[in-house]
Amino acid sequence: MNLKDNLERVKVFAPASVANVSCGFDVMGFALQEPGDVIVASHTDDFDGLKIVQVTGEEGMLPTSVEENTAGVAAQMLLDYLECDAGIALEIHKKMPLGSGLGSSAASSVGAVVAVNRLLGAPLADKELLQFAAEGERVACGTAHLDNVAPSLMGGIIFIRDQESVDVFGLACPKPLFATVVHPQIEINTEDTRNILRRDISLKKAVTQWGNVGGLVAGLLKGDYDLISRSLHDEIIEPVRSVLIPGFDKVKEAAIKAGVLGSGISGSGPSVFALSSTIEQAVDAGKGMQQAFDEIGLDNECYISKVNEQGPQILEEH
Ligand code: HSE
Repeated sequence: MNLKDNLERVKVFAPASVANVSCGFDVMGFALQEPGDVIVASHTDDFDGLKIVQVTGEEGMLPTSVEENTAGVAAQMLLDYLECDAGIALEIHKKMPLGSGLGSSAASSVGAVVAVNRLLGAPLADKELLQFAAEGERVACGTAHLDNVAPSLMGGIIFIRDQESVDVFGLACPKPLFATVVHPQIEINTEDTRNILRRDISLKKAVTQWGNVGGLVAGLLKGDYDLISRSLHDEIIEPVRSVLIPGFDKVKEAAIKAGVLGSGISGSGPSVFALSSTIEQAVDAGKGMQQAFDEIGLDNECYISKVNEQGPQILEEH
């Protein structure tokens, strides 16, 4: 990226993401081309320090105090690290629903740290911003898991080998991958759906799961669609969480019927995702999945995109 000096205002798009990718609970995620949040950071002489001056899109739903807002916390952590107390006004334009399983809080946190870092002349590299964006996740759902923030910040499909040491890397797939994500209009709280998960699992289930995780990673790196497809299963989390998503089995069945590589819960739900090797399959899957939600009277929205390799985008700066 070309960096301009003395910026007054930076506007950033940060993408939504699909976390877990079936078998990879807390260790895998990929970025979408849409939806995403737009965050604006501007210098101001009106006050010192960071303030959230505007929230649009989910008015009244999001706290506007820096300490309680995911984007605010992430940006403040970055500013503390940089020992910067300059006046910075933050605008948060929510372009996707909260509690959707699309990494909404992560997108806001990522947009905030990218915008503020750039406004300050980009003292840190993008990957270094991950630890700060992750703190926004801690506010949103109690843990600083990286499987939404890392793909939203870095783009592509990301693997998290270790959360504590922020040991993360991209899984570059040589073949095209198309995502279909259907969001039914209900809200699911990530923290609640984490609390209902079993703490103990059988060795048999664990073996199946890590076999699938290894298969999925290898399938992505080799561009082996069959291996990806055989591995896109979740023996542990999906059976517990899917009962919270009305019509889940029928929606997944509709995706599989359209010939997708695999389908499952996007993040902690309620959105359901599918991965396809062609755009036609992704579109067909979307129609079937939407119809399945329609049949039970659940309003829904469908997003279809290639895996977003780029991550955040600078929309404007001056
Ligand atoms: N890995 C997380 C979960 C993603 O499934 O709880 C949701 O933010």
